[in-house]
Amino acid sequence: MIARRLPAAGLDLLAERFDVVSGELSPARDELLTRVEGAAAIVADPTVPVDGELLDAAGPALRVVANFAVGFDNVDFDATEARGVVVTNTPDVLTNATAELAVTLMLAAARRVGEAERLVRDRKWTGWDPSALLGRELAGSTVGIVGLGRIGLRVAELLRGFEPALLYTSPSPRPEAEVRLGLERVPLEELVERSDFVTLHAPSTPATHHLVDRALLERFKRGAVLVNAARGSLVDAKALATALRDGRLSAAGLDVFEQEPAVDPELLALENVVLLPHVGSATAAARDGMARLVAENVIAVLSGKPPLSPVQ
Ligand code: 8YV
Repeated sequence: MIARRLPAAGLDLLAERFDVVSGELSPARDELLTRVEGAAAIVADPTVPVDGELLDAAGPALRVVANFAVGFDNVDFDATEARGVVVTNTPDVLTNATAELAVTLMLAAARRVGEAERLVRDRKWTGWDPSALLGRELAGSTVGIVGLGRIGLRVAELLRGFEPALLYTSPSPRPEAEVRLGLERVPLEELVERSDFVTLHAPSTPATHHLVDRALLERFKRGAVLVNAARGSLVDAKALATALRDGRLSAAGLDVFEQEPAVDPELLALENVVLLPHVGSATAAARDGMARLVAENVIAVLSGKPPLSPVQ
């Protein structure tokens, strides 16, 4: 049972072997609860809550929930574990796409790309001005990477050519990466105090909820740039809007929001924030890779084999 849609790269693999029922882009919860009845596998994603109610609606045939995403904050693991249901995700195949998007946001925010483009489109550009739209450069700056998992590490690799100093936070040290990429591990407070750019690559958990709140924003370097291509819940949007208005931050680049697709009106009103509609993994290569991995995980579990990328 595919809760929403799965690209052909994965859908075809499933349809060759199983009866597949697909849904709408935004299925109603009631419709999902009906459609899931008797399913052996559910293909979900972070917009589809997977809880006891959905698992019970599927019934005892259910063996696997394959998330079409690397994130799995939609899954109630107590409920899946209690019912012996395996959960899988799609790591690696979207790492580079998401890291490139984070770097895109970093540059777009620092060089005021959204604001500059709006000026041209609104036909308000009156001619070249030596002091207009001045931004910031990555070269010689300090970039702080919050969370050095697969995506955070790839961001560090991609940034090398821009020649910033690199700081990171992580629950455990990554000595190989420190040597290879010149990274320095520091506590979060020190990271924001020293960084010109802060980019978030941590998962959404109770511990990371509003990690970037008013108190932390007050410790940021004046004029810093914040990038979030991880999860909206990591940032208190109201506190961020205040910091962007009062100059504590010079700019921000956001691909994710707490209540997607809603975006806080205070952010929408600001020129110095680049706002994207959760497109971190939106490349054909990444989405095909994700779809294929979803299908391979389902096929493995339903054939009695270990999943390729189990979450726990
Ligand atoms: C997806 C994501 O596009 O993988 C994730 O965790 O946030 C994105 O890659 C989104 O979850 C929809 O599947």
